[in-house]
Amino acid sequence: MGTPADHLDTLLKETRSFAPSSEFQGNANFNDPSIYERALEDPEGYWSEQAKHLDWFTPYTKICEWNPPHAAWFSDGTLNATYNAVDRHRATYRKNKAAILWEGEPGDRRVLTYDMLGREVDRAAHMLASLGVKKGDRVAIYLPMIPELPITMLACAKIGAIHTIVFAGFSSSSLRDRILDADANVLVTADAGHRRGGIIPLKANADDAVDGTHVKTMVVVNRVGAPSGATMTEGRDVAWETLMAEMPNTPYPCEPMNAEDILYILYTSGTTGKPKGIVHTTGGYLVGANTSMRSVFDLKDDDVYFCTADIGWVTGHTYIVYGPLTAGATVVMYEGAPDFPNRDRFWQIIERYGVTIFYTAPTSIRTFMKWGPQHPAAYDLSSLRLMGTVGEPINPEAWMWYHEHIGHGNCPIVDTWWQTETGCAMIAPLPGLINTKPGSATRPVPGISVAVFDEHGQAVQPGSGGYLVITKPWPSMLRTIWRDDERFAKTYFGQFQGIYLPGDGAHLDEDRYIWILGRIDDVINVSGHRIGTMEVESALVDHKSVAEAAVIGRAHEIKGQAITAFVTLKEGVVASPELVAELKQHVVIQIGAMARPEEILFTAELPKTRSAKIMRRLLRDIAEGRALGDTTTLADPSVIDALKSQYQDKE
Ligand code: WTA
Repeated sequence: MGTPADHLDTLLKETRSFAPSSEFQGNANFNDPSIYERALEDPEGYWSEQAKHLDWFTPYTKICEWNPPHAAWFSDGTLNATYNAVDRHRATYRKNKAAILWEGEPGDRRVLTYDMLGREVDRAAHMLASLGVKKGDRVAIYLPMIPELPITMLACAKIGAIHTIVFAGFSSSSLRDRILDADANVLVTADAGHRRGGIIPLKANADDAVDGTHVKTMVVVNRVGAPSGATMTEGRDVAWETLMAEMPNTPYPCEPMNAEDILYILYTSGTTGKPKGIVHTTGGYLVGANTSMRSVFDLKDDDVYFCTADIGWVTGHTYIVYGPLTAGATVVMYEGAPDFPNRDRFWQIIERYGVTIFYTAPTSIRTFMKWGPQHPAAYDLSSLRLMGTVGEPINPEAWMWYHEHIGHGNCPIVDTWWQTETGCAMIAPLPGLINTKPGSATRPVPGISVAVFDEHGQAVQPGSGGYLVITKPWPSMLRTIWRDDERFAKTYFGQFQGIYLPGDGAHLDEDRYIWILGRIDDVINVSGHRIGTMEVESALVDHKSVAEAAVIGRAHEIKGQAITAFVTLKEGVVASPELVAELKQHVVIQIGAMARPEEILFTAELPKTRSAKIMRRLLRDIAEGRALGDTTTLADPSVIDALKSQYQDKE
């Protein structure tokens, strides 16, 4: 197993530990330590207790049915996600509470109270229904971080349609793959989006993407305005604003959904070139999302909660929309980049709205460190009381910087380990109960059974590392991969019988704290974005000049990992800096900007074993400048010397 050894070294030397203040502890929603034991003894009882925080149309009598690898939770209950996230609050004192405090990148702002959000969602549900969308249909969404994004999601959920959101940074070809796989026939997009002062041409991408798909209607939000030049195709494209204006101003009834009916599909990268459509169902997912808001994020009614993720990724699904809204929170939603117009944008937002809970990614924290503490220091951040991180392992240095310069030493940090597949935070401190250690996601949350296994499926002793596994089903687990149940069973349950394998390496310390070491498969984590090496390799090989490509993730100071591609060219093609630029751009066009290789190295040959397998470990060693490991299985050892000298030349 290829554990990232350097990272482990730093982590194992880490001994600092931070207890919550007695004030935080006293006020925490979860402040009885016996909860861990109770949940361990009776996980189903624990989850059923938590499920009571949702409103069910028909109460469930069954809790968990487990036929590995298939789980069902609360399977005879019915409920509706939008009823829980919006409508039920409209009937209470939360009616006029701010649900979404939205800020656009250019500085425009919108406030949606729960009642206002509910009215927009009703209208959007009428709109989708008028387009023929029914329960179970798939609606693709390709929108920037504007209020119409959660409004569309919640409108789908109200009808019982399955949304599949494609991050607006994905290219038209990635969008097409996802639309085709989900077989969506409605696409909701925008003319364009704002990003770091520039414009992302979403409609133009969408036009390319829907060619050859079953998309019959494209609804286009006017975000940027005429100069972006979105052209509308007669008979297929309709303006969001026009359609919405035609809709009745009446409530749209919530479709009663079975707990096991699908809420959404979200694509993520795996070890093959084809993205996986992760399927989440309604009841269990919402129980997981809602519970973690109250437990891990200690959400109170007067909190102002700001998660900097994009709704196009799972963090935004769970921790901008379904988690906080089902819990009745006030959510700050920001459209753009942290450095537009200046590097203080997030701190300005925290001060302006009095944000109390802030959730971001390690890669952002490392970027803030590089920009310097003078930016946050210029703002009053004293409203903050709790901070979180997600997406990749956080290095202790970044954790300490976050603790000191953003939290001013007063805020517990919840380092939350989870995945698109797990639906909600799995390993994370309950901030009133657990002492944190910089770089460790600490303990599994109550109701989640985690272990670290050796390759034989035995749990390792404290002080050792191995494969992170989840040994029991949990409510918000993925149910399958959309239209590929076989891949689901093989990918997640193929290694150890009935045990979920996330694909991360982990170390268990003497206090039974878990330290996540990163992916152990062919998935790279670039700035918190999961990218399959095979996806990038296929994109490169798709270029006319490329014969073969091998892609690896190498350690990168800010991004966590960066993509290095080793490429062999076809006969007669001459390597040049122009070709490097062209190939990088080719990957951007094929996948999206987040997959752009940091560097491309041309080589006459790729290092392969005698059985013709590319030796990625060797490539990683070369890219990270380490002494080379065992090369005895290499078919042609001279390949390595050639590659090594090339890499050194480059530096
Ligand atoms: C990584 C994002 C260490 C991990 C929610 C996982 C983390 C993958 C952490 C899932 C963390 C996420 N510490 N690593 N706190 N959180 N990861 O599906 O490798 O985009 O398997 O979900 O990110 O990425 P995904």
